[in-house]
Amino acid sequence: MQNINIQIVTPEQAEEICRYIITTLPEWFGIPEANERYAKGCLLRTSFAAYLDEKNVGMITLEFPFSQNANIYWLAVDKNYHGKLIGTLLLQKAEQYCFEKGYFSLTVETLSPKHQDRSYLKTYQFYENNGFKPLFELQPYGPDYTMVYMQKNL
Ligand SMILES: CC(C)(COP(=O)(O)OP(=O)(O)OC[C@H]1O[C@@H](n2cnc3c(N)ncnc32)[C@H](O)[C@@H]1OP(=O)(O)O)[C@@H](O)C(=O)NCCC(=O)NCCS
Repeated sequence: MQNINIQIVTPEQAEEICRYIITTLPEWFGIPEANERYAKGCLLRTSFAAYLDEKNVGMITLEFPFSQNANIYWLAVDKNYHGKLIGTLLLQKAEQYCFEKGYFSLTVETLSPKHQDRSYLKTYQFYENNGFKPLFELQPYGPDYTMVYMQKNL
């Protein structure tokens, strides 16, 4: 993919990018209160954005709750640019950054494949393709949503 540039962004830029990209992904981000929480949460974390020429096309936001493991707080690519390896490049950048900072692993929470949700099955596949393994499931948002927690050694 030509002309993809990935760079760290300010918390304020991250909030704006998160809000914009969510508008392109209604199948994944359909709960307004959750979307608001994500956008505000980007203000407190570390984000890298992907630019195709000058246009923002994706972002990954990381958090570092404990010394050994980094967690993906939020990751998304503009729907119009899916399947062009932008998500993979964002993940690689995040992995490199975390490794250099001394973190040994990277985790992520996503919707369990047991839901058989067409959209989130693709997300799960994306993480598996990129070396993440499922660890366990929880229902932190109530019984309607079973979340899976995945991990990758760096
Ligand atoms: C998951 C996501 C970040 C992947 O980014 P991407 O740039 O589309 O993915 P890439 O091009 O780097 O990788 C493509 C691979 O990911 C998978 N994939 C996941 N979602 C996909 C999509 N919507 N379209 C095409 N491929 C997708 C495919 O398995 C594909 O592998 P293949 O080429 O062997 O078929 C992106 O699709 C997205 O923003 N999804 C919606 C939001 C989301 O799920 N965020 C994560 C929440 S935990």
